[in-house]
Amino acid sequence: MSQGNARAGVTALGAYAPPKILSNEDLEKMMDTSDEWITTRTGIKRRHIAADDEFTSDLAFRAVEDLLARHGDDALAGVDMVIVATNTPDALFPATAALVQERFKLSAGAFDLLAACPGWLYAVGLAKSLVESGQCRRVLAIGAEALTKIVDWSDRSTAVLFGDGAGAAVVSAVPEPYGIKGVVMGADGSGADQLHKRSVGRCLPSGAPLSESLYMNGREVYKFAVRVMNTATIESIRKAGLTPDDISLFVPHQANLRIIEAARERLALPRERVVVTVDEYGNNSTASIPLALRAALDAGRVAAGDNLLLVSFGAGLTWAASVLTWGP
Ligand code: ACO
Repeated sequence: MSQGNARAGVTALGAYAPPKILSNEDLEKMMDTSDEWITTRTGIKRRHIAADDEFTSDLAFRAVEDLLARHGDDALAGVDMVIVATNTPDALFPATAALVQERFKLSAGAFDLLAACPGWLYAVGLAKSLVESGQCRRVLAIGAEALTKIVDWSDRSTAVLFGDGAGAAVVSAVPEPYGIKGVVMGADGSGADQLHKRSVGRCLPSGAPLSESLYMNGREVYKFAVRVMNTATIESIRKAGLTPDDISLFVPHQANLRIIEAARERLALPRERVVVTVDEYGNNSTASIPLALRAALDAGRVAAGDNLLLVSFGAGLTWAASVLTWGP
């Protein structure tokens, strides 16, 4: 099969979470909250926090180093595009992706992608198009996040939710029946007011002032998340030519256990077919799904030929979903 016709798949995956842990008990000492409140409302028990001098590029480098350690030094051979999906780039420019390109001496284009938490799924969907069109041979798609640097630690309703981390995937041609299928990417900017952080602007089109740190209307985002996790997964499964029964493992964005549970129930999937890492990592946005997928692979929960259903939602508001037929 010529490269232009082959399907693209995820052929290597690495992940990294910083070693420093902030537990719910630690948060109890910092603000008016409790392990009981956080656990029952979100399922989060702890989150991994970047060191003071550790930023998104450092986390991205670590995830790529993990990928190389697992898949060998040749794992990046032929990578001719680097995409870093992030909400917390080290700088507006240069792109964090350019720092990755330089660090690993890749002969590649490089750009950052901003689509909030679904950013890594957007990057993988885009990587699929680049590879399947023949434009690129292999794409390095990274999700990396130092979210705890932009959290308002005086706002207990958001500070307890987020963590840091990174995941890195190589997307390249795979034989049938493997690969990335049923790609869904959506946005509804009418929800821009619900989740935002200022860059150079002052206010949103509604006139709402942009927040200096991460602002979230949790209740509105919750309602949106439950709705869109349902519609996006159904659309992705249908586009992939499958039914929910064909899904071996559900790997949702790890924001809140109750949102994951609602999506699982709508899909009528048993609990053993759902990956949950929100207890360990909290919500680390673009890094969330690759970290969860890496954990599932390490636990031996994924076999060649399995159909994995991935879905995410976030600021924008945005959403994305896809099915990965894992292997070969
Ligand atoms: N500890 C103790 N009490 C708290 C805390 C806390 N950390 N945070 C809020 N509360 C209190 C509130 O003040 C409120 O008290 P009140 O009733 O006296 O006013 C009470 O708990 C209930 O607050 P709610 O906001 O109604 O709590 P809710 O059950 O909605 O849970 C949560 C809040 C967890 C944020 C939920 O709304 C949620 O998960 N939303 C979705 C968030 C999400 O998934 N975001 C991902 C976005 S991805 C991205 O792009 C970054």
